[in-house]
Amino acid sequence: MIIAIDGPAASGKGTIARRLAAHYRLPHLDTGLLYRAVGAKALAHHVNFEDPAALAALAGVLDPAALDPEALKSGAIGEAASRVAAVPQVRAKLLTLQQDFARQPGGAVLDGRDIGTVIAPDAEVKLFVTATPEARAARRHHELLGRGEEVALEAVLADILKRDERDSGRASAPLARAADAEILDNTGLDVEQSWQAALALVERRRRPG
Ligand code: DC
Repeated sequence: MIIAIDGPAASGKGTIARRLAAHYRLPHLDTGLLYRAVGAKALAHHVNFEDPAALAALAGVLDPAALDPEALKSGAIGEAASRVAAVPQVRAKLLTLQQDFARQPGGAVLDGRDIGTVIAPDAEVKLFVTATPEARAARRHHELLGRGEEVALEAVLADILKRDERDSGRASAPLARAADAEILDNTGLDVEQSWQAALALVERRRRPG
């Protein structure tokens, strides 16, 4: 069983994907980490963000097993990730790796922006997790404060809106709901309620009728 989870930044899709993976004992790939790793390398090596070939070269040498989520969480790396993710040559380099992960014998859970549309269009279960920009900004703000990043809520909201626009507006594999994805709008739901709603949707998909 392949479970594809897509949605905008700070929608809670990562938490849902992790919990689904644990629940069904499936391997999980947070595909945002791949773009974050490329963005982080580009920043560290001062690679020109306007140079698709140089960015793609960074994407070609990624080891998904060696990604450290904690080291890739910062707002600056998220911003860099969103920029490199708009480069078709970068996306092309990361495609096979993600498709190979999805096609493991027992199945897998992948979360990102284009899993249900591009990476695993045949996934048995697709969820599109979303919430209003204000609700997502409040969550991200809370999370950043918890990690000691002092930043104003307005700045976080502006960042979320900018990221939404870039992720949804790009020509190459934009953030979009697959026609056959279940929508989970978790505005106003807490983490536990969001998880229960997601699990109910997945169970309904697995056992139709
Ligand atoms: O989910 P995240 O914030 O870790 O993702 C970081 C950036 O990577 C995000 O701005 C969009 C991009 N991304 C993408 O384009 N496609 C994916 N499958 C996952 C992430």
